[in-house]
Amino acid sequence: MFNIRFNGQETTSKPNETLLECLLRSNINIDFSCKSGVCHRCMSKCLEGELSNDATRKLPITHRGKNYLLACQCVPVSDMVVEAKSSDDNITQCIAVNLEHENGNVWQLAFESYRVINYQTGQRAAVMSINMQDEIIGVLSSDPDNDALTVLQFEQQDLPHWLNESSQDINALEFYLRGPLTEQQERPPLLAPNPELWQQLGGDSKIYEILNTFYHAVYADAQLAPFFERITIERITGKQFSFLKKHILGEDGFIGEDPKNSHNWMVVNHNLFNHRIELMRRILRDYAVSETLIQQFEAYEEQFRPDIVKNQPWPKQIGDQFIDTERFEECVLDEATICDYCSAEIPANTMVKYHLRIGKLACKDCSTTSESTE
Ligand code: HEM
Ligand code: FES
Repeated sequence: MFNIRFNGQETTSKPNETLLECLLRSNINIDFSCKSGVCHRCMSKCLEGELSNDATRKLPITHRGKNYLLACQCVPVSDMVVEAKSSDDNITQCIAVNLEHENGNVWQLAFESYRVINYQTGQRAAVMSINMQDEIIGVLSSDPDNDALTVLQFEQQDLPHWLNESSQDINALEFYLRGPLTEQQERPPLLAPNPELWQQLGGDSKIYEILNTFYHAVYADAQLAPFFERITIERITGKQFSFLKKHILGEDGFIGEDPKNSHNWMVVNHNLFNHRIELMRRILRDYAVSETLIQQFEAYEEQFRPDIVKNQPWPKQIGDQFIDTERFEECVLDEATICDYCSAEIPANTMVKYHLRIGKLACKDCSTTSESTE
């Protein structure tokens, strides 16, 4: 029996069971499919603990010797701390099509990939030589929906020798791309307060009014409104007002969660985040705020992008504890009640399921449907 910590959640392994079996038995979420070492979906990173040969034998060549393991092949041989792989760990073989000097000291590498890379414009990614050497980081500047080639921009001083040396004959050069990278690395410190900006924007009452108008537009917006189903315009305006006042004016009257936790369940991509910024810009222009002030204001919102944009919900983090809000719990009710989804009566002493974040009770029929779409 070994202690296992996976993505912050703890359990104990039984003799001879694989890490995947142990996590599934303990209701700990892990991505998997084939359970036989073929699909690599259960690939995870071992942060502490020993790895048997079986745990690593069927890893793709790109991930060997770097503390990765396949959970479906790994029978724990010691206590372990393991983390699910993220898109930072995705390594994709690519083939260059063109390398050109864009402008100033910016270079652009255009390429095709051997499998689809799920990215959004503006995300960062690393490229390295086919020997997995000399990794550099750039920004993906192409549009995944419309551009045939993927394009990575990087600065002249980063140009690695494996690209530089082949710049005459770049076509068909093979290399690896890692990522797209999650945005949490090298985060600059938060902007210092700028009380003058708060006054220039019109002070308390004008800013409250602008935010209220903004949220009326948000609630009328087909892409944004669905997120706000469970909160009133007054409440979100008040929260956003005191949050911005804290950051721009430096006056700490905000009582609430940090953006990473308050947006933990929202799957917001860069396009949607940009769409919200654009909407805010439109409202500020309607209030005749100058472009300079709009830019300064936007910088205060923009700095929270890494706390909000993500491909899947993440657990809330309080201190060292992680709380997964996106799951169902069960309980037996003392009294009869009504199912929050279909309004059927649920008799007393029945086992019901409720969603941890939303809190709605589901009868047996509805909970099977809810779970399968979870
Ligand atoms: C597309 C982007 C965004 C979406 C869809 C979004 C959506 C939401 C929603 C639905 C809530 C209510 C959460 C709840 O009470 O259940 C919320 C709360 C909040 N949001 Fe956003 N938001 C976005 C961007 C931002 C940005 C850029 C900021 C920061 C400037 C921000 C700051 C806040 C704050 C301070 C709260 C209140 C937190 C609390 O209740 O303690 N949001 N947001
Ligand atoms: S589940 Fe497919 S490799 Fe582990």
